[in-house]
Amino acid sequence: MQKVLILDFGGQYNQLIARRVREQNVYCELHPHGMSIEAIRNFDPIGIIFTGGPGSVYLEDSPKPDPQVFELGVPILGICYGCQLMAQMLGGSVTAAQEDTAREYGKAPAFFDGSCALFASIGGESMTWMSHGDYIAALPDGFSAAAQSAACPTAAICDEKRNFYGVQFHPEVQHTERGREILRNFLYGICDASGDWTMEDYKTRMIEEIRAKIGSGKALMAVSGGVDSSVAAALMAEAIGDRLSCVFVDHGLMRKNEGDEVEKALGHRLNLIRINAEDRFLSALKGVDEPERKRKIIGEEFVRVFEEAAHRIGAVDYLVQGTIYPDVIESGSGEAAVIKSHHNVGGLPDNVDFREIIEPLRMLFKDEVRQLGRELGLPETLISRQPFPGPGLAIRVIGEITKEKLDIIREADAIFREEMAAAGLDRSAGQYFAALTNMRTVGVMGDGRSYDYAVALRSVQTRDFMTADFTHLPWELLDRVSARIVNEVQCVNRVLYDVTSKPPATVEYE
Ligand code: XMP
Repeated sequence: MQKVLILDFGGQYNQLIARRVREQNVYCELHPHGMSIEAIRNFDPIGIIFTGGPGSVYLEDSPKPDPQVFELGVPILGICYGCQLMAQMLGGSVTAAQEDTAREYGKAPAFFDGSCALFASIGGESMTWMSHGDYIAALPDGFSAAAQSAACPTAAICDEKRNFYGVQFHPEVQHTERGREILRNFLYGICDASGDWTMEDYKTRMIEEIRAKIGSGKALMAVSGGVDSSVAAALMAEAIGDRLSCVFVDHGLMRKNEGDEVEKALGHRLNLIRINAEDRFLSALKGVDEPERKRKIIGEEFVRVFEEAAHRIGAVDYLVQGTIYPDVIESGSGEAAVIKSHHNVGGLPDNVDFREIIEPLRMLFKDEVRQLGRELGLPETLISRQPFPGPGLAIRVIGEITKEKLDIIREADAIFREEMAAAGLDRSAGQYFAALTNMRTVGVMGDGRSYDYAVALRSVQTRDFMTADFTHLPWELLDRVSARIVNEVQCVNRVLYDVTSKPPATVEYE
């Protein structure tokens, strides 16, 4: 399989670059900029991309790749900092822009003269996304400028003889109008990619690999009904059938009907053991109102329930985890031992008898996991499910948890989700849910006074869940949801809509 290497110089869009490359059916990996030249040679890339980064290339300790990277005969595309780095390391010069000259943040139209292969299909003016305070003042030998913006005469540079290209703007960001096309030109026009990365092939290859690795051995995994664990389980089951045992711990903190839906979607294709542990979790959580303690108790209880089930199954050879590529990247080098302390379940069981961990989704981005799920024939309801936190509704019932409160929020949340879907907004909102505040207020129902709970609705738009904006939901929708909740759900007389962004708030309430 052909591979593109992305060297990471610390820019905020680095994962996005990798996703944009993969979207074009070319496999790539993101590695630290300090990757040794031997490792780069072994990786055997068809092309290399230098990412952006917050540094200034002329500073002593700014991150740089091994200079021999320019001698491999492999095409290189530098983006933003990566572009300046290439110019500087090959003999050009980079300087800080003076006030108002060559410094750009945000959208900037650039003029492409169409002279180089990277912009073969792009002539004339097109919008780009810029974010730089330095600029290339002098080009290295062999390079020419291929695009200009009003402030920056070197918005793109190229040396077609050596196949080195640089763009000052960010082609991976959607605000760059022709960004996708530019990356495509690099991959297909310059690196000669054949487009051999598809989820269909990945599925076939992984199934073979899993079979070869596991032989006649046994594997065990926890499934939560979330996208990652469901896809990992379906892939493993396709490879080794019922030698995979899946344990689904229903902690009683799921949304309305969710436990049954998970069982229905996965039960017939997996050797699935469902453990109904609601009583156990609720009694462990009794009287607890502090958010971190709730999480800790749930995590520990989960591991204990899982361990007990594992003991009944007996020794297994492999423990399967649904770790995905962003977890691997975020953990550091991409090579370090990454045993995701499964944030859904709060740590690895230390009492389960297994030889090795296997992570079949370790190299996939979330959208690829979804695509693989479709290849495996999982239902769309499971695949496009919005994220749901491991501790479940426990962190959406503020304060102490009781069965009664959980039932209230399950009903309110189901109404909100139903109406979001009916309004066609269920796919465009990043995450949305109802939470039960720990607050009771006075209301009037019929002719009487009520003293009931306030439900908070939350809906956010987000790219990565690190930051989020509240969704501008239509008033009519909020009106309908509010009317239905106070009418249909017992013990609720007030509905609030949360209009805080993250930061300063978080997505969840606890
Ligand atoms: P916050 O509340 O931190 O949430 O802004 C960001 C995203 O992470 C999810 N989340 C969790 N997921 N276990 C999980 O598996 C957790 O303990 C947890 N806490 C938050 C949250 O739903 C959102 O998608």
